[in-house]
Amino acid sequence: MTITQTLPYFIIFLLFILTTTPPTKAQPFSCKPSSKCNSLIDYVSPNDTTISNITTLFGISKNLLSFLGANNYPPTTLPSLAIKAKQTVKIPFPCRCANGTGTSDGLPVYKVVPEDGLFHIASDIFGGLVLYQQIQAANNIADANKILVGQELKIPLPCSCDEVDGQAVIHYGHVVPAGSSVEAIAKQFDTTQETLLKLNALADPADLKAGVVLDVPLKACNSSISSDSRDYPLLVPNGSYAITANNCVRCKCDAANNYTLQCEPSQIKSSIWPTCPNTQCNSVFLGNSTSSGCSRTTCAYLGYDNQKIITNLTTVSTCSTSPSSATKINSQGWRWNFLVAVQLVLLSLYLFQ
Ligand SMILES: *[C@@H]1O[C@H](CO)[C@@H](O)[C@H](O)[C@H]1NC(C)=O
Ligand SMILES: *[C@@H]1O[C@H](CO)[C@@H](O)[C@H](O)[C@H]1NC(C)=O
Ligand SMILES: *[C@@H]1O[C@H](CO)[C@@H](O)[C@H](O)[C@H]1NC(C)=O
Ligand SMILES: *[C@@H]1O[C@H](CO)[C@@H](O)[C@H](O)[C@H]1NC(C)=O
Ligand SMILES: *[C@@H]1O[C@H](CO)[C@@H](O)[C@H](O)[C@H]1NC(C)=O
Ligand SMILES: *[C@@H]1O[C@H](CO)[C@@H](O)[C@H](O)[C@H]1NC(C)=O
Ligand SMILES: *[C@@H]1O[C@H](CO)[C@@H](O)[C@H](O)[C@H]1NC(C)=O
Ligand SMILES: *[C@@H]1O[C@H](CO)[C@@H](O)[C@H](O)[C@H]1NC(C)=O
Repeated sequence: MTITQTLPYFIIFLLFILTTTPPTKAQPFSCKPSSKCNSLIDYVSPNDTTISNITTLFGISKNLLSFLGANNYPPTTLPSLAIKAKQTVKIPFPCRCANGTGTSDGLPVYKVVPEDGLFHIASDIFGGLVLYQQIQAANNIADANKILVGQELKIPLPCSCDEVDGQAVIHYGHVVPAGSSVEAIAKQFDTTQETLLKLNALADPADLKAGVVLDVPLKACNSSISSDSRDYPLLVPNGSYAITANNCVRCKCDAANNYTLQCEPSQIKSSIWPTCPNTQCNSVFLGNSTSSGCSRTTCAYLGYDNQKIITNLTTVSTCSTSPSSATKINSQGWRWNFLVAVQLVLLSLYLFQ
């Protein structure tokens, strides 16, 4: 065969390679075996849609409040709210780690419709959050071209439960926008370039490509939640909230508030209890605080069990750590208490003379 004879075959071969090689967008996140946690991933909807259609697609329509919280929509938002094409929303989902990688635990499940193909499902329906080969492997499909209408496919979204630098974090699969950089993403999400490079096995910041699902560790707000509470560890990232304690408590996180979790009554009907149990600390309402000198006393949320919501008055120092000034305030407080005690003694002497 001459070159002119083989050229068409060569072109067909090239086209075959180009059309069957998917863009390398999604890679699994590394994760220590046998851990479970909650995770987040971006979804950029290709078409105009609604919250309801998105939560149905991802199998989380029963957890509407956790979707609303992750995206900081008010808890009263209706599922019919429109989401515009190309708008990004965060999907909260359960993560399970096995064999060194993390994947979504049992959801989403996608039901094949006529004319579907694995590549279309991975790239168009799920916006490139998975590769079609990962769907194929997760469902033990021998031939990627043979899927059946009505067949239910598990979609393995990437996630992780690993601590980062000894801290519990929320792993967030961030779809890299065009024109972004590792440095800009690190700055936006309050982490470092080195952490992002290490976590995503990137040798060089220049290796970052738009559309990639980047593993971004989000710091959680600190809280006093006890380890035997049903919602332990309640990890809430900056700029979002979680509804917990059978819907009775709403906890929000704001980096501007020193990453301290702030919980208050949710004002929502309980999902289990006929009415929400008492959340007050004596006379102080959950979430209310009083400040004096260098300390702030807050009625803090400590967790819940079958019967009750546990709260406690906790005192935190709001001054920058300077031991000498703390001692001064303490001794002033002591002197004040002493004066009050003396007055009380004088008053009782006067009353009972
Ligand atoms: C939402 O899903 C329903 C049922 O699948 C469909 O009929 C409707 O067109 C979708 N709405 C939007 C805005 O995508
Ligand atoms: C992990 O690997 C083992 C052995 O290779 C395999 O049997 C098992 O299905 C894998 N688990 C997952 C969740 O992929
Ligand atoms: C978006 O619309 C296109 C064209 O109508 C369709 O092929 C695709 O499946 C839609 N994507 C989703 C997620 O509904
Ligand atoms: C909360 O703060 C303590 C000490 O200040 C720290 O040891 C712990 O790791 C923090 N937890 C989170 C989730 O940041
Ligand atoms: C925290 O979230 C708010 C609101 O989403 C955002 O404006 C701010 O930049 C975030 N701060 C950090 C440190 O991530
Ligand atoms: C205390 O909390 C209640 C209910 O959460 C609220 O209505 C009230 O305004 C708060 N009071 C103060 C002083 O913050
Ligand atoms: C409640 O708060 C007090 C004072 O901050 C603290 O000593 C106590 O250990 C707390 N109780 C619980 C159960 O955390
Ligand atoms: C956060 O902590 C810093 C230093 O530890 C302190 O100066 C600041 O007042 C705190 N802010 C709040 C809102 O507590």
